[in-house]
Amino acid sequence: MINIAVTGARGRMGALIIENIGDAPDMRLVAALDISGIEMPAGADDVVVSHAGGIDAVLKTTSPDVLIDFTIADAAISNIRHAVSNNANLVVGTTGLEPYQDEIAEIIAGNVSAVIAPNFAVGVNVFWKLLAEAAAYIGDWDIEIVEAHHRHKKDAPSGTAMQAAETISRVISRKRLVHGREGLCPRGDEIGIHAIRGGDIVGDHFVLFAGDGERIEIKHQAHSRQAFAAGAIRAARWVMDAPAGVHGMDEVLGL
Ligand SMILES: NC(=O)c1ccc[n+]([C@@H]2O[C@H](COP(=O)([O-])OP(=O)(O)OC[C@H]3O[C@@H](n4cnc5c(N)ncnc54)[C@H](O)[C@@H]3O)[C@@H](O)[C@H]2O)c1
Repeated sequence: MINIAVTGARGRMGALIIENIGDAPDMRLVAALDISGIEMPAGADDVVVSHAGGIDAVLKTTSPDVLIDFTIADAAISNIRHAVSNNANLVVGTTGLEPYQDEIAEIIAGNVSAVIAPNFAVGVNVFWKLLAEAAAYIGDWDIEIVEAHHRHKKDAPSGTAMQAAETISRVISRKRLVHGREGLCPRGDEIGIHAIRGGDIVGDHFVLFAGDGERIEIKHQAHSRQAFAAGAIRAARWVMDAPAGVHGMDEVLGL
């Protein structure tokens, strides 16, 4: 049985992941943490929500094998530290962690195994692979990345869009990103990135490769958050036998 703790337990993703844990015969929810809904039933296995401020004590008493974190960047860094000091492996879906990448790798190195991915959906991981392949052939075309998400999403552009830019940049050595455009801004050699926010859009990503007289568009659309939750559950199983250090979803999926 894999014992799991969830931080961000009252959030859209946390609540869905707890539902998935309840349906998994090989998993048990041992702790649920958030900063709201304290003492409310977490939704699986008679666990109630504990205040995230007491995370260290909760992890000490419940000894989870894996902590799954879908919160906000500042909270995730602190939760990662507590997981490592309590010897819990990690599955981190929180986005906006790019500025902390080196710090996180240092905290985790040699201590626990972690899967950290801005997008756990299988299709998105294949989408990134397709982008790398397209960039190898038509990397000299104009490239624009457009993402759309629901009105509640806090960070922009999405971690998935940034990962798309990073993936393409790695292939074509084009590092300059331009976020949106306004006023006089003639197109140069940049990769353009655009974020749209509205309604209940779960997550759309679309990359345009535009040449002279033709274009290719590569697009992924998530229909429901279950695509992310299922990937996170898969990662939680995989991380149990993974070597210490930070891993990506591409490794989980063997891409
Ligand atoms: N990697 C992926 O596949 C993927 C998919 C969807 C969302 N996300 C990311 O996951 C994160 C959460 O998304 P969401 O839609 O569930 O957001 P949400 O706002 O619905 O949920 C976040 C939850 O975290 C809680 N929280 C805030 N600070 C906390 C702390 N210090 N300790 C514990 N809990 C705390 C909030 O109270 C809230 O309940 C975001 O960064 C989002 O971009 C990633």
